Amino acid sequence: MSGIAELRARRIWDSRGRPTVEAEVLTASGARGRGIAPAGASTGSGEARELRDGGTALGGLDVQRAVRGVIGEIRAALLGSEVADQAAVDRRLIELDGTPDKSRLGGNALVAVSLACAHAAAAEADLPLWRHLAGEQPVALPVPQIQIFGGGAHARARVDVQDYMVICPGAGSFAEALEWTAEVYRAAGARLAKRGALQGVADEGGYWPAFKSNEEGLAELVGAIEDAGLRPGADVALALDVAASQLWRAGAYQLALENRSLSSEQLLAMLLRWVERYPIVSIEDPFAETDRTAMQAFTRAAGDRIQIVGDDYFVTSERRLRAAAGACNAVLLKPNQAGTLTETLACWNAARDSGYRAIVSARSGETEDVSIVHLAVGWGVPQLKVGSFSRSERMAKWNEGIRIEEALGARALPYPARRLFPRAGR
Ligand code: PGA
Ligand code: ZN
Repeated sequence: MSGIAELRARRIWDSRGRPTVEAEVLTASGARGRGIAPAGASTGSGEARELRDGGTALGGLDVQRAVRGVIGEIRAALLGSEVADQAAVDRRLIELDGTPDKSRLGGNALVAVSLACAHAAAAEADLPLWRHLAGEQPVALPVPQIQIFGGGAHARARVDVQDYMVICPGAGSFAEALEWTAEVYRAAGARLAKRGALQGVADEGGYWPAFKSNEEGLAELVGAIEDAGLRPGADVALALDVAASQLWRAGAYQLALENRSLSSEQLLAMLLRWVERYPIVSIEDPFAETDRTAMQAFTRAAGDRIQIVGDDYFVTSERRLRAAAGACNAVLLKPNQAGTLTETLACWNAARDSGYRAIVSARSGETEDVSIVHLAVGWGVPQLKVGSFSRSERMAKWNEGIRIEEALGARALPYPARRLFPRAGR
């Protein structure tokens, strides 16, 4: 047990070349921990607010005020606090900010400090963060959801659907899931290049495709899985993030790529058709964050067959999850949506209480920070979403999972893919 002896912060740069906050904690006994705030592009309106400087420099995105808050007010409040008491540290951060959306000191400042304390506490105990969080509990590696094509707000809306992803229900380990995904990613790139439809990579490293329709992305994914010598559905299944809040304008869902506007009912019918035609096992934010009726109706219609994930819809809020009333059956956990680790963990606990699944997730703006992999393993969250299979801010996280799986060895609980996705894995 040791108190916080020093708290530092600096402005560093994220994967989009934008400023972000890094916090560093030093304990009285000399342990150190560092945390970096990630940043979203397709954010939910209920997320903790980032504190950005505004003005013209760096597009208004600078974080000097957030950094000053950490080395000023937050440092003064936390010096001497017990670093291992994460709940007390986070409570102090929330009180100090004093706003419901963390807009005064900034969710970016708070999450960096919260993460830095967790790392310092783990260093103090001389344990990797995942082990420090898990204590004596046995743990498993999470099942990865990996993007192959990127669209939506991450690729200037070149396609409307934001993430075309794969999940490997048939893989026997985290490492094997990555190996299969690497084959699919290669095959998908080769297919696009062959027909001149490859336009680079989007913000999370997935291919930036020139599709003529959103459904073409599904057909291409199935083709890529087959080209890789794997069985669509049984070995490798599909997952989507529609990020539908981004498509919702003037009371309808605008599919710009197809020059169509759909009502909630029409979008629901289209998604059900896709679930019939393609080996889809998970759909995130199928409807806008305000479209509760459609979210409930879709969950009633498809929730027994597929995972329906609320991202913008729940914004990692325990309160929203407890009020879900039959909307979705899974929640995305993004620490910076909540603002602190304690609130993120509370949302996961609420999910477990309500029989909801959960997926720890990165943001589209990321860094070398690999904390989320440790959170997924340490908290026992059985799925992880990090983006695609390229760009080092993504690969650093997948690679960290490989190291943890190796360190766990035979002590690991069974890898949960077949339990979570049995229909696809037959
Ligand atoms: P964001 O997108 O990080 O840009 O918000 C990720 C997601 O929608 O899952
Ligand atoms: Zn999402």
